[in-house]
Formats: sequence, structure tokens, C-alpha cells
Amino acid sequence: MRIVLFGPPGAGKGTQAEKLTAYGLPHIATGDIFRAAVTEGTSLGREAKKYMDSGELVPDEIVEGIVFERLSMPDAASGFILDGFPRSVHQAEALDGFLEERGVRLDIVLNFVVEAETILKRLTGRRTCSVCGIIYNIHSNLPPNNTCKCGGELIERDDDKEETVLKRIEVYWRETEPLISYYRSRGLLADIDGSLEPEDVFGEVEKTLKLRLKEF
Ligand code: AP5
Repeated sequence: MRIVLFGPPGAGKGTQAEKLTAYGLPHIATGDIFRAAVTEGTSLGREAKKYMDSGELVPDEIVEGIVFERLSMPDAASGFILDGFPRSVHQAEALDGFLEERGVRLDIVLNFVVEAETILKRLTGRRTCSVCGIIYNIHSNLPPNNTCKCGGELIERDDDKEETVLKRIEVYWRETEPLISYYRSRGLLADIDGSLEPEDVFGEVEKTLKLRLKEF
């Protein structure tokens, strides 16, 4: 199964991807790849950080190279969960071309629909484990003593400051939202109400995958 998780910042893509990995598919999140590179201090990390800190998109040619290298690894040969990619029409067309060359195609694009107000509250309240990456929120599921169940420290993402979140939402509407009609016209888009509780959103995800995909 080749699944794209789509939606604005804070729509819950990472949260749902964590749950979907129970089905044995690799979770490929471009934001996570960039944040790991920033932590490691690589040249990619230094380059990506400039864009991430300002809420802008990392240039297509950088992202596409990284994603296609990752998708070429053996564990992604029979399926994957893409989270945060594609994010521009150029990236979507490049992904189609990459898959076409390999004789395969996307199965579904799950579009998590959430209001802007909810996004702002979620992102400014997000805390992520610095060790295992589990995502929490101060408004709903903060663990006792502010510490992850693995013992890791919870951190706030640099790009979750209110002014950067507002910029990311603006960039989403300008660069990424046009992909909704791109994928809808190809019959691949499935809308999911992302404003429900995380478990209920996951219920909708599973129901949609079962309805749309025979092999699920
Ligand atoms: P990236 O890391 O991909 O960020 P994003 O798309 O903005 O998405 P988020 O990770 O912020 O949100 P999410 O939808 O995963 O929500 P989450 O589950 O965490 O990208 C960061 C940056 O990297 C970009 O700005 C860009 O610079 C660069 N980049 C990445 N990919 C790129 C690309 N393809 N091209 C160019 N540049 C790229 O949930 C958010 C919070 O809400 C959490 O606290 C969670 O606990 C809570 N929550 C989740 N679901 C629910 C729910 N149902 N109810 C209540 N709370 C919930």
C-alpha cells in the first residue's frame, strides 16, 4: 500500500502515522528527516533549518532527492506511508514520475481536514519526545512529570512558535492546498475529519482504507 497523509500543519498526520505503522509500513516523514539532519548538524540540516525556522518550504530539488533516495530502499518497495510529502505540485508530479518508472502508483491520499483555529492551539501545545519521537499535547495528553513514557525529555519544536505557525499555514494555502484538486481529479483523495479525538480519527482512517483498498 502506498499512502500519502495530507493536510495542513497540525492536522494530525504524524499522530495518525504512528498508529498506522502497526500495519508494517515504513513511515517516511520529510519533517522528521530534516529535524534529524538539524540535530546531527549536517550540511542538509543547516540548509533546511533556514527554511524551517521561517515557516517556508525547503526547495523542491532538495526534498525530492531525499525522498526518492528513501523510497528506493528495500523496506519501501511494497509500500509506505508518506507524511509531509508531496507539498507542491512540482513534488507531486515528481512523485508520480518516480512511481511510474517503477510500474506502481499511489493507492490513496488521506486528507485530514481541520480548522485553522484548532491548528494554532494544537501546534503551540505540541510537545515531542526528544528520544523516541512520540507526539504529545499539553491540552490533551501530557504525560505525568512532563516526561515521555520512555523517560525522554519533552521538547517544543522551534517552528511551533505562533508567528511561525501562522506563516506555515499561509504557505500551506499557497503551495500545498492546490494538491487537493490535483489528487481529487485523479480519484485518489479521501477526506477525513481530523477534528475528532485521535482514536476516532484513526477509526475513520481504518474504515476508509478498508472501503477503498481491497488489500487492506
Ligand atoms: P513537518 O514536520 O512535515 O510539519 P507539518 O506538515 O507542518 O506538520 P506537523 O508535523 O506540524 O503536524 P502534523 O499534521 O504531523 O500534526 P501532529 O500529528 O504532530 O514540516 C516541518 C517543516 O519542514 C516545513 O515547514 C518545511 O519547512 C519542511 N518540510 C517538510 N516537508 C517538506 C516538503 N515536502 N517540502 C518542503 N519543505 C518541507 O499533531 C499536532 C499536535 O496536535 C500534537 O501535539 C498532537 O498531539 C495533537 N493532535 C493530533 N491529532 C489530534 C486530534 N485528533 N485531536 C487533538 N489533538 C491532536
